[in-house]
Amino acid sequence: MFGEGFARNPWPVLSSLRDDSGGVHRVATPDGPPAWLVTRAADVHRCLLDNRLSTNVRFAKGSDYRGFAVPAPMDAFQTSDPDDLARLRRGLIAELAPRRLGEWTTRISQLIAPTINRLERVDDIDFVDRVAVPLPAVILGDLLGLPDDARDRLLAWAESTMRADAAPRARDTLASMQQITSIVIEHGRATPDRSVLARLITDGQLSGDQLTGLVFYLLFVWYEVLIDLLAGSVLALSNRPRQLDTFRCGDQLAAVDELLRYLSPQMLAGPRFPVVDVAIGGHVIPAGQTILLCLASANHDPERFDRPDELDLSRSPQSHMALGHGSHACIGAALVRPITAGVLDQLFSRWPELRVTNDENAITWRSGFRHRGPRALPIRPGRPGEAVPISGGEASERSLESQP
Ligand code: HEM
Repeated sequence: MFGEGFARNPWPVLSSLRDDSGGVHRVATPDGPPAWLVTRAADVHRCLLDNRLSTNVRFAKGSDYRGFAVPAPMDAFQTSDPDDLARLRRGLIAELAPRRLGEWTTRISQLIAPTINRLERVDDIDFVDRVAVPLPAVILGDLLGLPDDARDRLLAWAESTMRADAAPRARDTLASMQQITSIVIEHGRATPDRSVLARLITDGQLSGDQLTGLVFYLLFVWYEVLIDLLAGSVLALSNRPRQLDTFRCGDQLAAVDELLRYLSPQMLAGPRFPVVDVAIGGHVIPAGQTILLCLASANHDPERFDRPDELDLSRSPQSHMALGHGSHACIGAALVRPITAGVLDQLFSRWPELRVTNDENAITWRSGFRHRGPRALPIRPGRPGEAVPISGGEASERSLESQP
């Protein structure tokens, strides 16, 4: 279930997995070892809150899948004891708290503008290549306060690993990620300024290893999934004029939550290892085996969401699990929403008739194990104010509702 076809349209497969065998299945992961896949929303939700399911690889036993192995100390989030993990998270939560949303939103909007402006007068462009890949590096470099050298290297890393034609996968570039992480920490120590990273590095709450894990997480771990969310959102809105209207006239940050639910760019939570035997969906899972909680399946479970395979930006309330839930829930949420809303707003305000030029079926999807998104997204912005007809209109919008 981890191939390109699945990434493009996982919903029918996930629906049958939810219906069968208590919604819990023994699956083979792409690297080979087996894992338990949990697909029903109620189970996924319960498991995310169950502290008998540890994210710490120390509790993994035998030959079961352990996830993408990152060398110490970059693996701080997978190996810290609960108290240390809570300390790691506390520092970050204080810095990335939703109360800063107003502050972030204005700055993020300023940072997005030059990238969008550069699309002016270009007819056919790949949105992934020109916007989704470079933009997170630009925004993060500024908001976190990266030194120039690290900004340039982060951008170069993203461009060499995240583009559609990129040769190395992110997991094959650990040396370069380690180098950038060290530059950032050295800079933070040498020049304590008022940046987010300098505060985290110099406030003395975190050990050297924890800082390495934290910076690694902040710069690299979520990068690809943000590209997936941005590209998936542009594809979804460019084909659905009514939803685009709702986005432009309504609460744009809330609309991002529905896009997150609908697209579920991060399909799986990080692996969990039960510290004791646990029963889920009628199966007893022995301690130490790997459990994969399928957030995408939970977000499309009809037991939890009405018309789950439809994108409906006026849906409310939107209590999805695309950013996780509970003690490991995403700390970057306060960044994800304004970045996505800002890109969509600037793009579609300037080019209301922007459309994806490829036939939807010709778009290839990244078949990453944990996440999904268009690998490349050819768009034609048109000239500002120029009316480029969207083929199909409302009728095709309806027919698209069951597609990714
Ligand atoms: C589209 C963008 C993103 C998505 C879909 C996403 C999704 C998630 C999910 C599902 C989790 C929970 C993982 C689990 O329970 O195993 C998570 C955790 C986390 N995310 Fe994000 N994330 C995104 C962007 C970001 C950004 C921009 C940052 C920070 C700059 C970030 C930082 C974190 C951190 C620190 C954790 C906590 C890990 C832990 O405590 O184990 N994320 N994210």
